Amino acid sequence: MLEVERGTDLHLPRRMRRLRRSESIRRMVRETHLSPADFIYPMFVVRGQDVREPIASMPGQFHLSVDQMAVEAGELRSLGVPAVLLFGLPGSKDAVGSSGYAADGVVQKAVRALKDADPDLLVITDVCLCEYTDHGHCGVLDDQGEVLNDPSVELLVRQSLSHAEAGADIVAPSDMMDGRVGAIRAGLDGNGMTEIAILAYAAKFASAYYGPFREAADSAPAMGDRRGYQMDPANGREAMMEMSLDLAEGADMLMVKPALPYLDIVQRARERFDLPIAAYNVSGEYAMIKAAAQQGWLDEERVIQETLLSIKRAGADVILTYHAKEMARWLQTPSH
Ligand code: PBG
Ligand code: ZN
Repeated sequence: MLEVERGTDLHLPRRMRRLRRSESIRRMVRETHLSPADFIYPMFVVRGQDVREPIASMPGQFHLSVDQMAVEAGELRSLGVPAVLLFGLPGSKDAVGSSGYAADGVVQKAVRALKDADPDLLVITDVCLCEYTDHGHCGVLDDQGEVLNDPSVELLVRQSLSHAEAGADIVAPSDMMDGRVGAIRAGLDGNGMTEIAILAYAAKFASAYYGPFREAADSAPAMGDRRGYQMDPANGREAMMEMSLDLAEGADMLMVKPALPYLDIVQRARERFDLPIAAYNVSGEYAMIKAAAQQGWLDEERVIQETLLSIKRAGADVILTYHAKEMARWLQTPSH
């Protein structure tokens, strides 16, 4: 008897191209599909009224006042995008980032307005000190300029509670201090907010791809860098450790950030953990595509679609992306 290896045919050469002959057949055998429901759209909230200020380093993105943000959120929901992630640009900054946990802070106001306008919109808040500290670090500093872990965690808990009190559905700590997920979970539970979920920036790397964001959020560190708390880009096993710890501390979803240079981490996370895995397609990934498209060097729509597909194919359930709105719009047209 002839031994035939699985998947091969000795007599007929295997013709892979049969299933690529038409869009109908390609569509039938397609393994990965993007949906607007996969996306979380990050937005930058500023004080004031009727503010819609373009962010130079991120073409197509804006600093939005609360009223403008509500318009944007309405548009997103009509496109089927379920969730937004809020970053705040406060009126004042200090050493401990107190404007980050003020009950009437920019983010807290935005959360209230968005949930009032549409209770079904999922409002996620970025929890970190760097947008609110005058030194731009993600935690508080000692006399030598070292970022202190546990005192920072205390402030992150305060900020999370103020976001949750304003009505946030999910808090997303992005600071990379040790133990903050457990502390935030305990803080929420201790204040009767057991239903608020935590999306942990679990494997967040010290990446140059955050460059455009630091202009958008005005959060560049005044001195030093973030390598003392964000992860070394060379480390994959350590990313698994970070994720295990955040899972053990009570995270509801685990994020890998950035996305494209870390798709191996996304894939390993998907295989190893049964929690939803999120990937953050960050500002620098966005800006690179926009810049090349502006030059006419890339087909923008196709490159964006291919990029987001690659993140989903690697194993992300949820994608945080500045492309959410345009991609959702393209997904509405029949060719998708
Ligand atoms: C704040 C924060 C950053 C991003 C999300 N939250 C910047 C940083 O850590 O320096 C980056 C987002 C992006 O680049 O799109 N800690
Ligand atoms: Zn930060």
